[in-house]
Amino acid sequence: MKSIQLKTEIPGPKSKALMKRREAAVPRGPYHATPIFAARSEGAMIEDVDGNKFLDFAGGIGCLNTGHRPAEIESALRGQIEKYLHLCFSVTPYEGYVAVAEKLNALTPGKFAKKTFLVNSGAEAIENAVKIARAYTKRPSIIAFNDAFHGRTMMALSLTSKTHPYKAGFEPFPGDVYRLPYAYCYRCSYGLTYPSCKLACATALEDAFKRVVAAESVAAVIAEPVLGEGGFIAPPKEYYSTLHEICHKHGILFIADEVQSGIGRTGKFFASEHYGIEPDIIISAKSLGGGLPLAAVTGRAEVMDAAGVGGLGGTFGGNPLACAAALAALEIIEKEGLLARSTQLGQKFEARGKRWTKNFQMVGEVRGLGGMCAIELVKNPATREPAADETKKIAQYCYEHGLITITAGTYGNVMRILVPLVVTDAQFEEGLDVLEAALAQVSTAIPHNELVTSNL
Ligand SMILES: Cc1ncc(COP(=O)(O)O)c(C=O)c1O
Repeated sequence: MKSIQLKTEIPGPKSKALMKRREAAVPRGPYHATPIFAARSEGAMIEDVDGNKFLDFAGGIGCLNTGHRPAEIESALRGQIEKYLHLCFSVTPYEGYVAVAEKLNALTPGKFAKKTFLVNSGAEAIENAVKIARAYTKRPSIIAFNDAFHGRTMMALSLTSKTHPYKAGFEPFPGDVYRLPYAYCYRCSYGLTYPSCKLACATALEDAFKRVVAAESVAAVIAEPVLGEGGFIAPPKEYYSTLHEICHKHGILFIADEVQSGIGRTGKFFASEHYGIEPDIIISAKSLGGGLPLAAVTGRAEVMDAAGVGGLGGTFGGNPLACAAALAALEIIEKEGLLARSTQLGQKFEARGKRWTKNFQMVGEVRGLGGMCAIELVKNPATREPAADETKKIAQYCYEHGLITITAGTYGNVMRILVPLVVTDAQFEEGLDVLEAALAQVSTAIPHNELVTSNL
């Protein structure tokens, strides 16, 4: 039996009525990928208020690697509810916070001594990583990359790249942020091709110290090991070790923003592991809380201790319920073999993707790492003109056929997969069937032979 079951026209009458209330009560700023209102969820499924069942390939934007409402997280939350809900770690500490910190100190790459500070969101973690890097290095500047997304608070937004809809109209942003092209091989800013490019985009960092900002002014370089919002781009294998080496040579910290790529999404606990790097600071969020708001800044102990007592904090950061959920989520990933499952889902997606690149000329590139996979859509494979309108149509077709998806990319032309890793094989295939039907519907099916996959 199919998992997707649409019983009413969608959105159904109850969702429509709620949307009217939402429009009157909530500003238009927060965007919705779908206009249906949720009633309940489980595993990789969402049921709406009209009784329609949707397959969820978005996972609340990558927050549900362990699935909707796993029994272990529910029971951890119930156990915590019996004890206390909120204390504020800055007033009365509690064990759950320390246990999450210990777990992340052990799971993040690098055998050196580490410490972890907990906050509520990815953006808040980015803000704090910048504070910590500046406190440690006593330098002001931060280098970020084109196509990066680091969040929506002001410093995070300053580091984020995409102008519309994220930055435009919200200027001015905090300063001392500099930006370089990313290793977006499909659209190389230098017009080069890997590997003959000799990683010009990574060595450009040295050049930037002459032409853009002095190395001795730079506190940190921040990058997403696999771009999330920017289009699920996994750079070539040696990219990060090259960047990392240059950073270390100049006493600059390397911050890995693993908000989207971390917590098992790519088949390893952290995408940095695929690249063999040990970031000085690593940021986790999204799936860390198993569905509850929790984010973390983990780093070298001496770096993390640079901020003075009272210099870091926040009322809700590391809330006891979120910590209980996180401990259960991290255990599920280990016990249920979700890292291997992520790799397997990536392989299944790549196999389908190969077929799509042959059958649909609009599929320009199939890429990703493990279960963090995507297709980039183009109007024409030769010109690589982004197919943003077509991508919207594909997402709309998927929604109309019961598959919840989200798009990505600076040009809005990437379909990304962030399906809960607990999805069954049958559900995953069912979802890919819908996506394939959407491609067939929207694309003009002219075969071509170009196939580019991850460089790893
Ligand atoms: C890589 C990355 N960094 C930071 C953020 C911001 O996280 P949050 O939305 O929890 O503030 C996101 C959110 O999508 C992200 O993908």
